[in-house]
Amino acid sequence: MSDSSSAATLTRPTAPVNRPRPNPLRAGIDSNRLQDPCNIIFFGASGDLMKRMLLPAMYNLRLEDMLPSDFGIVGFSRSSYTDEQFRAEMKKSIDEFSRSGPAKEPMWGDFEKRISYISGDFDDVACFRSLREHLENNDKVLGTKSNRLFYLSTPPSLFSPIINMIEQSGLGPRDNRDGWTRIIIEKPFGTDLDSARALQSEVEKVFNERQVYRIDHYLGKEPVQDIMALRFANVIFEPLWNRRYVDSIQITAAETVGVELRGGYYDSAGAMRDMIQNHVLNLMTLVAMEPPALSDFEAIRDEKFKVLTALRPIDRNRVFLDTARGQYDAGSIAGKPVAGYREEPDVAPDSNTDTYAAIKLYIDNWRWADVPFYLRSGKRLARKGSEIAVRFKSIPHRLFGELGDTIDNNVLVMKIQPEEGISLRFSAKVPGPKMHIRSVSMDFNYGTGFGVASPPAYERLIGDAMRGDATLFTRWDAVEAAWGAVMPVLERWQDVIDETFPNYAAGGQGPASAERLLAADGREWRKI
Ligand code: BG6
Repeated sequence: MSDSSSAATLTRPTAPVNRPRPNPLRAGIDSNRLQDPCNIIFFGASGDLMKRMLLPAMYNLRLEDMLPSDFGIVGFSRSSYTDEQFRAEMKKSIDEFSRSGPAKEPMWGDFEKRISYISGDFDDVACFRSLREHLENNDKVLGTKSNRLFYLSTPPSLFSPIINMIEQSGLGPRDNRDGWTRIIIEKPFGTDLDSARALQSEVEKVFNERQVYRIDHYLGKEPVQDIMALRFANVIFEPLWNRRYVDSIQITAAETVGVELRGGYYDSAGAMRDMIQNHVLNLMTLVAMEPPALSDFEAIRDEKFKVLTALRPIDRNRVFLDTARGQYDAGSIAGKPVAGYREEPDVAPDSNTDTYAAIKLYIDNWRWADVPFYLRSGKRLARKGSEIAVRFKSIPHRLFGELGDTIDNNVLVMKIQPEEGISLRFSAKVPGPKMHIRSVSMDFNYGTGFGVASPPAYERLIGDAMRGDATLFTRWDAVEAAWGAVMPVLERWQDVIDETFPNYAAGGQGPASAERLLAADGREWRKI
């Protein structure tokens, strides 16, 4: 360094810069990730999920510079659109649903050139051959290198026919020697154990397990991924994370929405199939699993699977004691009157379908043997809120507290949505001369903590599938075990008409039977 330059540096006064102080928690947050060039083919591209979630996710991945520089988006559906019409539809969906607001130039102009559309029947091999030619052409024009990610976002009845056509038209992985072929399959993966097995046998005729990405969008939510960080990147929780210190665990996925326009699907599904069998059980596996030895995705999925295999089978004779089901009646949400479930479009007027489901489960292993896990999910409840609450045991001996003080159990709550954070409830002394004890809470909020909004689950998951990372996708053995776990309940619920339906008012806490489920154990649900 020359003398003059160092003098200049020393003598020149620095203008005060009014920069916000950097948030140290943001250091290291990814901005760019490279992925292989590829085509992503959306089956069911004219549907609602594409408009609301999938295409906005692709667009935002592009905005965040997370997509490879060479990519193509191909929509495939029955509706007839030209490429231009389809692009115009997709632009509308971004304008309406994208988290980054309306589509912006010049980004949109570049993005839309990569979007194309094929109109065709899902069981017509000729349409799939056209798709194949189209993809081969994209490889030449867009440089997508024969890498293909298929995304099944059609009604589930079309999953098998599409997979079959992929194979027959030469689009399957065995015929693609020049690149990779993967498939994302939306939920539900089957409607019961038998149909899930039947679907799986079609899937495995064409794809091997490493090429299959069964999506559960809950696993893409940031706070869900943080469950593992909380448990395995800290030393203080894990020693308490077992039957010696944990009294019980409650997992809740509560919604205020009703079935909206999905009555046709939902009336043959219900809350146990729609939410508990997949999203809620997946949360449970993350809370209950043993620490994996490696952060490798198969090691993590192995541990999750072991939890499901250790679930105590539900005794058919105890189904009505260990579960609760509900169906919403008319009521009000946020002060507005809403209809009852049986009045919703495409719902049978005497429907026996559960819009609320709760279940008590035990995991028969050394860690959890006698700790009840209470799982619940419902529509049209008082508040939208998904959370996991770990309630610890009571103190063994009471030393403090004036007469009349209750010393509450410690509770650690992992808040998944809409709030995203962690809260720990513990006892503290109320200021003053007496030894009064009250519960207080210590809260961490992701948004304010890290100063960045969590990316929507679909962005994370589509990006992961493009990179070939299956950690956040469900392996077949886990899907099969989860169906196995809920089948006794589904069968008994189907056999016995619930004469009390509708049994909870929209906007409330759910059915009284759910309160009884916990009261029988001397416990209460956390307020929704
Ligand atoms: C879907 C269910 O998987 O999850 C819907 O089919 C439900 O019925 C939705 O409303 C809830 O997702 P989220 O992300 O809003 O909690």
